[in-house]
Amino acid sequence: MRPAKDFFAPLAVGAPAPLREIPARPSRAIHFFDPSNAKMAAKVPAMVGTVDVLLGNLEDAVKADNKVAAREGLVRIAQETDFGPTQLWTRINSLDSPWALDDLTTLVPAIGDKLDVVMVPKVQGAEDIHYVDRLLAQLEAKAGLQRPILVHAILETARGVANIEQICGASPRMQGLSLGPADLAADRRMKTTRVGGGHPGYLVRQDPPRGSDGTSDVGADRSVYQQDLWHYTIARMVDACAMHGIYPYYGPFGDIADVVACEDQFRNAFLLGCVGTWTLHPKQIDIARRVFSPDPADVEHAYRVRAAMGDGTGAVMLDGKMEDDASLKQCLVMVALAEQLSA
Ligand code: GLV
Ligand code: MG
Repeated sequence: MRPAKDFFAPLAVGAPAPLREIPARPSRAIHFFDPSNAKMAAKVPAMVGTVDVLLGNLEDAVKADNKVAAREGLVRIAQETDFGPTQLWTRINSLDSPWALDDLTTLVPAIGDKLDVVMVPKVQGAEDIHYVDRLLAQLEAKAGLQRPILVHAILETARGVANIEQICGASPRMQGLSLGPADLAADRRMKTTRVGGGHPGYLVRQDPPRGSDGTSDVGADRSVYQQDLWHYTIARMVDACAMHGIYPYYGPFGDIADVVACEDQFRNAFLLGCVGTWTLHPKQIDIARRVFSPDPADVEHAYRVRAAMGDGTGAVMLDGKMEDDASLKQCLVMVALAEQLSA
């Protein structure tokens, strides 16, 4: 896991803001709940400790008529719940909606001391992060908060993807980025109708066999390989986040019944460099916690490479394979994640 970032404290009236360290905390599963849904909200206290992050969602999936109830419900739940090791995040409404300003001006004074991260949807560029950053600084100073609230952006517009590096570096509050595959698909005019995951039509087909006369038998049975619709975007996210020392996440996987494809999508994201994902149903939590934790066999191998590499330079043979400075660095990523998760 990357080192914790230096962080500016919120504006303090009359005093220079000291630098702070934000400890990297596990966030393999960011579990969404709708605070306006009484049944769902009642389950929140029992979920503390079972999931890394509980996120009160105020944006899409909450009906327009329920926006105020969701905001008020989140305040009530936060005030009544001891979150212990579990982080509390919220997803506010988008900055071009009529609700985002009221979300922040209500939540920060009321529960800013408990809120770890504000997730901002449909981020288009650095200007959106600057706006939230300055607003948070004012609200934190007014409320006398000592701990800065971090910001997480959802990548769900073509413009946001084009501006990804600027978004990641827009504020020292930036904690990470999530993929928003449903909105992003619509914004890009993709021809899909799902929330995350693959599509059976997005594939490559094996070349047709050629006859001795050189012609191709296009009618022959040929294997097809489904491709990952999200590979490009996730790879861009991982690079931009690595460059700025923040964390990349998969986003929602909407086919709740398809736990197999869900696990595949999560695993691809993990292997590419993501640290976690959203979970929309309790059955996705176990999948996320398992997939976004390193495989014990990989961790054991990583420790062996570390021991064999001594001062970390040169090359050694281990189990018939060459290990060197660069493979050691990969192993140290695995070791650091294992140690962070077991701390
Ligand atoms: C999430 O917000 C998405 O649009 O996929
Ligand atoms: Mg969205």
